[in-house]
Amino acid sequence: MPKIIVLPHQDLCPEGAELEAKEGETVLDVALKNGIGIEHACEKSCACTTCHIIVREGFDSLDESDELEDDMLDKAWGLEPESRLGCQAKITDEDLVVEIPRYTLNHAAENH
Ligand code: FES
Repeated sequence: MPKIIVLPHQDLCPEGAELEAKEGETVLDVALKNGIGIEHACEKSCACTTCHIIVREGFDSLDESDELEDDMLDKAWGLEPESRLGCQAKITDEDLVVEIPRYTLNHAAENH
């Protein structure tokens, strides 16, 4: 079974985590199931950026993002070439290393 290594995140997962995943699950669902509360303000319908993640390893094993996802990602805080929306990134048979960005767009706005 593929694994997702989640790098430490100050609030959501201070120690980091290693999660078991199944092919076809989204990164967001696996995280939520394991108690890592990544935000998902639009209920996983690819209409916000709060579930933004950065895939540090295994990015190429994921299905490519579609145009809608890319448009949303353009608005994400801290966008990187390996950014994805967690609710759209489906796991295949490869392990992933995932970083949760420090802020979502909502937080970034609040902190200004
Ligand atoms: S939860 Fe809104 S895009 Fe993923």
